[in-house]
Amino acid sequence: MNSNDLNLLARAEVRDLASYNAGLSTEAVRKRFGLTRVAKLGSNENPLGPAPAVTAAMAQACSEIALYPDASCEALRNALSAKLGVPGKQLVFGNGSEDLLSIISRVFLDHGDEVVTVVPSFGLHFIYPLAAGAQVIGVPMTASGAFDLPSMLAAITPRTRLLMFSCPSNPVGSTLTADELRQLLDALPAHCLLVFDEAYYEYAQFEAEYPDCLGLIQASGKPFILLRTFSKAYSLAGLRIGYGIVSDPLLADLIDRLRTPFNVNRVAQAAAVAALADDEHLQTTLAHVARERRRLTAALQELGLSTAPSMANFLYFTTARPAEEINQALLREGVIIKPWREAGYAQHLRVSIGSCEDNDIFLTALARVLAVQEMRT
Ligand SMILES: Cc1ncc(COP(=O)(O)O)c(C=O)c1O
Repeated sequence: MNSNDLNLLARAEVRDLASYNAGLSTEAVRKRFGLTRVAKLGSNENPLGPAPAVTAAMAQACSEIALYPDASCEALRNALSAKLGVPGKQLVFGNGSEDLLSIISRVFLDHGDEVVTVVPSFGLHFIYPLAAGAQVIGVPMTASGAFDLPSMLAAITPRTRLLMFSCPSNPVGSTLTADELRQLLDALPAHCLLVFDEAYYEYAQFEAEYPDCLGLIQASGKPFILLRTFSKAYSLAGLRIGYGIVSDPLLADLIDRLRTPFNVNRVAQAAAVAALADDEHLQTTLAHVARERRRLTAALQELGLSTAPSMANFLYFTTARPAEEINQALLREGVIIKPWREAGYAQHLRVSIGSCEDNDIFLTALARVLAVQEMRT
């Protein structure tokens, strides 16, 4: 069978679907360029690692891996319910929040439905709805990297089933103000479910200006699913665990129908409970990221690069050269960042806030790469 015939075996929606750009691993870059030291700043991971108690909790859970995990994530559900002041029945759990994005797309979307999101965007906000047969309308962020609220609202039609975007936005890092969020909620029609992806919540709420988005959304009375993750500030990306807060237990029930029954493994559940209990470690992470984000912003500006204001653990910046060119040159220097590949954004890159040392490696390499490119032009 040739590849065309094999392609025809897939559903029509899947045939032309772009794969998610998951970036390169440290190991792949080490091997490809014969390097010993690699600064991995492409996936918004937490350089400080998880809370110390996480290791012991994982070891304990590992001694029980012959048993299926708790399908209802009871211990974590109770811990989160107490921390957030949200009834346990209004929490859902996923194998990473990306699992929940996939389930949500399958539960709520059908052929002909529309999803409104923003561009540049987190890739899965396009990929999963498209795979479900929906049409995705990407509303461009403004030139300064802000949400274009009037255009987002204007994009909602009677066929819009989901308004789905991240706040802080990935890759830009920008956020909505309380007034903007209220305005958006007021205008949201009943047929449109809000999927508010707050993967970078902990970093944002460390800043005084970040509104209590959950509180505002809850107060609106509108149907919503608000997503968070243990991958970022809690540093459990390798374990895959995220959660959602839903406006009504019925939404949790609908999501439960399409998730795989044991979608969150035993080790991840135990690690998340331990991570949640260590607020001191979380605060250390948040302070480090805020400090280093300020330093990196200033250093990038000194290199003549403009960055969008960010409340997350990454910065989005624009260069005069194609992003892929800069990316390749940085990879040879042992630095992994993320060049943006969406049409219209090919001169934009996103760099994660790493350890002080990795950030220095990035800045030195970038200065060198830009200087070489300048000499060539
Ligand atoms: C905006 C956003 N949502 C969701 C995710 C998925 O996170 P995870 O599946 O690791 O919880 C990410 C990961 O980068 C993200 O940036």
